[in-house]
Amino acid sequence: RTLSTLGPLAGKRVIVRADLNVPLKDAVITDDGRVRATLPTLNALINQGARVIVCSHLGRPDGAPDPKYSLEPVAQRLSELLGKPVAFARDTVGESAQEAVAALEDGDVAVIENLRFNPGETAKDDAARRAFAQELAALGDVLVSDGFGVVHRKQASVYDLAEILPSAAGFLIEKEVDVLDRLTENPERPYTVVLGGSKVSDKLGVIAHLLPRADKILVGGGMLFTFLAAQGYKVGKSLLEVDQIDTVKGYIADAAERGVELILPVDAVMASAFAADADHVVAPADALEDTAFGADGLGLDIGPQTAELFAAAIRSSTTVFWNGPMGVFEMPAFAAGTKAVAKALTAVDGLSVVGGGDSAAAVRQLGFTDDQFGHISTGGGASLEFLEGKKLPGLEVLGWQ
Ligand code: 3PG
Repeated sequence: RTLSTLGPLAGKRVIVRADLNVPLKDAVITDDGRVRATLPTLNALINQGARVIVCSHLGRPDGAPDPKYSLEPVAQRLSELLGKPVAFARDTVGESAQEAVAALEDGDVAVIENLRFNPGETAKDDAARRAFAQELAALGDVLVSDGFGVVHRKQASVYDLAEILPSAAGFLIEKEVDVLDRLTENPERPYTVVLGGSKVSDKLGVIAHLLPRADKILVGGGMLFTFLAAQGYKVGKSLLEVDQIDTVKGYIADAAERGVELILPVDAVMASAFAADADHVVAPADALEDTAFGADGLGLDIGPQTAELFAAAIRSSTTVFWNGPMGVFEMPAFAAGTKAVAKALTAVDGLSVVGGGDSAAAVRQLGFTDDQFGHISTGGGASLEFLEGKKLPGLEVLGWQ
């Protein structure tokens, strides 16, 4: 169900379930990508003269109000981006929220406080969740669900509320599902999947689901060391998931059998310690312990030869999906691999998709802009679960899966 199925919305109270779960440092937003991603839907509703009530979670508070997790700074940012005043309610379904909603005129916007200040939002108990959803439902006439980043959660505002009120997906969910579908169903070839991040165990489902669909798979990030260990290489004190080595061996064999090119690093940046100013040196993948740090060295980035190999594979692809940084990009000495991969994605003549919270933050932090990529997903867990082929409650309830 898309927005247009809800009929004319002028004068209607429209609840928008967004995912405004942005990173905050001392109440300052460090990446407002998720706020910007809500603008197409919100502007469409404003232009129609709807009375817009925006709700979201922020962080993981304990089911009670906690000023650290207030949505107030997010409401302020939203007001700047929309170029109009945005009211802020100090509670979620209480007096303040009810007053804010009652004061809305056509085309106005209000943000209500963090949904997770109420235990009912994340309750496992169906009745408790349903009861909170009923309170939320009383604030509006219809629901536009647009928090793609949270559709993998069976929570009151994501799932139950959509069953209570007439509901439809907003433009962000539409776009995310459209793009992610193109990565799983008939991707234009050659199709390359670039995986990084610290743990293989977080990516098992994605690897299993995408391996049969991709032409090339490139592995970087902390998880590369488990792949190198599976090939019999020593990795010093690098991140290693010993219990995943057999699984990884299975992937290597499966890729070979299917004719999928699995490109593993040929070199890595080894460091003396996990620190921004640590001594570091490039070592070939089969000699990671042959540096001055010996078996104490730890790998914190892919090496320059690997970066070049990855960049060439990416540039020559028509569809590319990238999830997970190649190294500890927050430290400049170990950011080169992630930068090289990001740069190569900007040169793809086709569809380039950056998925997952960390990779999205990485590209912005490294100075790239959103418009240099085909799509930057606002989902972390949600986009990964989608790409694992899982059913997501927040999409199922809207008839989208
Ligand atoms: C996310 O950041 O992945 C979403 O906002 C969901 O947040 P959660 O993992 O706390 O449910």
